[in-house]
Amino acid sequence: MNRPINLFEYEVTAKQHLEPMALEYYQSGALDEITLRENRLAINRYRLRPRMLVDVSQRDLATKLLGQTLNVPILIAPMAFQCLANSEGEIATAKAAAISNVVMVLSTLSTKSLEAVAAQRQNTPQWFQLYIHRDRSLTETLVRRAEAAGYEALCLTVDAPMLGKRESDRRNQFTLPKTMELANLSMSNLAIPQTSQESGLFAYFAQQIDPSVTWKDLEWLQSITSLPVLVKGILRSDDSLKAYEHGAKGIIVSNHGGRQLDGAIATFEALTEIVETVGDKIEILVDGGIRRGTDILKALALGAKAVLVGRPILWGLAVEGMKGVAHVLQLLIEELDLAMALCGCASIEDIEPSLVKINY
Ligand SMILES: Cc1cc2nc3c(=O)[nH]c(=O)nc-3n(C[C@H](O)[C@H](O)[C@H](O)COP(=O)(O)O)c2cc1C
Repeated sequence: MNRPINLFEYEVTAKQHLEPMALEYYQSGALDEITLRENRLAINRYRLRPRMLVDVSQRDLATKLLGQTLNVPILIAPMAFQCLANSEGEIATAKAAAISNVVMVLSTLSTKSLEAVAAQRQNTPQWFQLYIHRDRSLTETLVRRAEAAGYEALCLTVDAPMLGKRESDRRNQFTLPKTMELANLSMSNLAIPQTSQESGLFAYFAQQIDPSVTWKDLEWLQSITSLPVLVKGILRSDDSLKAYEHGAKGIIVSNHGGRQLDGAIATFEALTEIVETVGDKIEILVDGGIRRGTDILKALALGAKAVLVGRPILWGLAVEGMKGVAHVLQLLIEELDLAMALCGCASIEDIEPSLVKINY
């Protein structure tokens, strides 16, 4: 088999390795998938204005985030149920993250426990993504476990008070096979229900996730932990300001990969106003449709400190387990390195706003 040479080829190849229910769960967006498509279109509307005759013989992709040095400005986005792609699931992803020196953000809804994933870390930091459950003591226990296991930041996902309507999941009555569990929650007897006429995950959110969460709860979360909290799922400058005022240390500009509110703006459309509002105060990250090294360069030129990559990680996992994830990351890193050279950037600090231009 010829190895895929880019992330789009990974997607094509992954389709041969996944059961239809898993594939559709991974790839789909909400409703008509307008936002899912728009994330890519918005990135492509930006064009690069490369700078010439700069010495780019030595390039450094390292950057600082929350006071820590990252090898590259790329993180693995939190994604639920990775055992649907590969039997090692989140363990394989964590191993690939560690060998690639890339921060992995582990989902609350992982199919391997947060402690087992933490054991794969080596020296690479890991972050934990949090959904606030109706049961606050359960939520607090998750935070304590994440702290004890050495996770270095929490990402509070705020764009999912209810789950978006993903029609293929409804059609498939999406649920987990009996061999898989909500590894962080099974001791509380929580599981994805089997439902007729509905996605089991949709039903899980309706039953278990707290839709009454507000900015006060962001303060509550910070009152019970000393870990830095980032808010994931912000799309407006006024919300970014509130996140800052309520103590968040960072924002992930995200529309959940087009899986929540269809018709929501693309993340690259939201990024500029958010950078202008709080970019000098807290860390701004972005995700949604990042598939090329040039996409990362554009995000950084627009003021993001780093990007998160979602589905392509699952495609790598489905095709070749840990090796596939590591290869997806390697391809992205090589492409970013080349994009920097061709734009006249020897370091991440050299990536500045004049390198991009919007093309209407
Ligand atoms: C299969 C799948 C599961 C996801 N699960 C979660 C999750 O548990 N928590 C969360 O905050 N975001 C979740 N997301 C959203 C991602 O973290 C991220 O925002 C999005 O995938 C980025 O877009 P991209 O897939 O186009 O790169 C999930 C996305 C996918 C595709």
